[in-house]
Amino acid sequence: MQVGIDQIGFYTPNKYVDMLDLAHARGVEPNKYLIGIGQSKMSVADQSQDAVSMGINATLSYINKVDLEQVGLLIMGTESGVDQSKSASLFVKSALKLPPEVRTFEIKEACFGMTAGIMVARDYVRLHPEHSAIVIGSDIARYGLKTGGEVTQGAGSVSVLIKANPRILALTSGHSAYSADINDFWRPNNSAVALVDGKYSTEVYLDFFQRTFQAYKSKQKMTTADFTAILYHLPFVKMGLKANRLAVAEQDAKTKKRLEENFTASTLYSKQVGNIYTASLYLGLLSLLENGTLSAADTIGLFSYGSGAMGEFYAGKVMANYEQALNKVADEKMIARRQQLTIADYEQIFKQALQLPADNIELSSDEAPGYWYFAGTKNHVRQYQRK
Ligand code: COA
Repeated sequence: MQVGIDQIGFYTPNKYVDMLDLAHARGVEPNKYLIGIGQSKMSVADQSQDAVSMGINATLSYINKVDLEQVGLLIMGTESGVDQSKSASLFVKSALKLPPEVRTFEIKEACFGMTAGIMVARDYVRLHPEHSAIVIGSDIARYGLKTGGEVTQGAGSVSVLIKANPRILALTSGHSAYSADINDFWRPNNSAVALVDGKYSTEVYLDFFQRTFQAYKSKQKMTTADFTAILYHLPFVKMGLKANRLAVAEQDAKTKKRLEENFTASTLYSKQVGNIYTASLYLGLLSLLENGTLSAADTIGLFSYGSGAMGEFYAGKVMANYEQALNKVADEKMIARRQQLTIADYEQIFKQALQLPADNIELSSDEAPGYWYFAGTKNHVRQYQRK
């Protein structure tokens, strides 16, 4: 029996900053952002979008295709949690009207959280094939105005349905994991923005990629040429590009060309959305599936990385007619519909979003009808509403 990804949903907020504008405002040569970092735009979440509302919106795009009574597990990976105690997934479960019998919780290990959820869901569905599992990654990457990490911000969510006989990607057995207790990126409880040693983080990421990729190939008796595409956690496109350069070094011309072209296809959405932490790897998967060159049974490798640090490599096989389970037009529209912000407006929205609104003040949203948003707190309880 095959188990894997049957549906993919994606949401990003309705506003963005153009990197050209940001470069001009910060007095930086634009090609540093556009080429050196590899980003052209980044989504911006205002006060009315958070990890919960974005996770609901991402899942809504496919929920009408799901047998809700069959869902046995709902997992949310996030490092933009809205409560120290209650799981973000409970708000999502309520909005999606999932049955009370569902097991639901939140996972945290920086950007690795969604992968952790997918691995748990894969093994759960293997044991309980009559059930499906929803796994959501949802995050707002905030480093702070005028910081080195500002250009690597973003906001959005990707949601997947894991089930038996999947329509998109069958997850193959096995994985290789590697962890170490280090301090490359973290966000203390009293800080709304992340602290990061970006250059060290890149070093560790590349080291973990090489370790997990080698270990995976050796355990599975595979070579690099067996992969049609390799996907990477993409906090910014240049980071993945550095890992892909390591992967294709010393490969034959055909393998190199294939992996490079499919890498480029996997970066098209992230380049415009920016960093969405837990969901970044899966936005890359969506971009590859909708823009790459793939055939049934092709093997896709996935490298997940969460600072702190945890790395994991695993793989999946492309299902026949996978395109029919995707909605490329809707995903492209999700990105294209965003409104461009001036840098002054972005800075004002950024500062406001760092604050929790005063209790019992209802927030409104300028989202399109049908989307969910955070409507403020009522007696300190978070309220979510559909526009
Ligand atoms: N044209 C083209 N490229 C240019 C350029 C120009 N005019 N100016 C600079 N560059 C290149 C640099 O050569 C460098 O490329 P390289 O990485 O291949 O060497 C790149 O742009 C970045 O320049 P750098 O000076 O290193 O930038 P920085 O000191 O501002 O830091 C980051 C960049 C990515 C380290 C920083 O934005 C950051 O810390 N981001 C957060 C990273 C993170 O979140 N890590 C944890 C998650 S996994």
